[in-house]
Amino acid sequence: MNLNYKSYWRKTGLKGKWGNIFLQRLSTYNPKNVLEIGVFCGVTARNTCDLLDKINGKDFTYVGVDLFGSDQSEKKDEIEPTFLKDQKFSNPLKNIYYNYILRENLNSIDSVSKLLKKYSDNIKLIAGDTNKVLKEINLQNIDFAFLDGGHSYQTVINDLTILYESMKGKKKVILCDDYGKESYISEVEKAINNFTKQNNLELNIIENRFAEIIT
Ligand SMILES: C[S@@+](CC[C@H](N)C(=O)[O-])C[C@H]1O[C@@H](n2cnc3c(N)ncnc32)[C@H](O)[C@@H]1O
Repeated sequence: MNLNYKSYWRKTGLKGKWGNIFLQRLSTYNPKNVLEIGVFCGVTARNTCDLLDKINGKDFTYVGVDLFGSDQSEKKDEIEPTFLKDQKFSNPLKNIYYNYILRENLNSIDSVSKLLKKYSDNIKLIAGDTNKVLKEINLQNIDFAFLDGGHSYQTVINDLTILYESMKGKKKVILCDDYGKESYISEVEKAINNFTKQNNLELNIIENRFAEIIT
């Protein structure tokens, strides 16, 4: 399948080759029900829906969880993209377009819903801190989870623990960003190492960046 991660003229956590590497992981497993923790501006969400639509027709779901501007329970230890503070773009045209013409906050439920409008019957966007909201979400049918939200040790452990409760023994996939040296975050690495060790789980490192856990 021809995979082509598009930026949709927005910011994404998966710039350059990383978007296509992510799509390759998705297409390797051909999931039907995908969860993304850390939606940001929705670019990976949109690319995920584009691919799921190609693979499954309309028979897929995408669930995205993000703070979307709501408060974190442990504000001080989270690492947020600096972009979120004042929505600055290196491209001046984007700056004018989003900040002065549309006056649109790209990391908001409204803005991401607009980007995913084509798939409105298949998607669910949830605003909140995963330390509070993840345990309230039904994760039983999730085949593939992309973990890219809060990057503190506590949040990564929280998210992995809750995901694993629902995905355990089902040979499903949890793909975690920011593990390897290409986008290393030490707390993320430490949390993933401790969690996989404690639960005796195999860890595959993808392109020195992602950590892939098969449940
Ligand atoms: C690196 S960005 C995600 C990038 C996105 N996956 C992409 O591919 O473009 C991290 C996102 O996680 C969100 N976030 C940070 N801490 C969070 C938490 N505790 N609960 C939910 N979302 C969180 C931030 O608001 C931010 O949008």
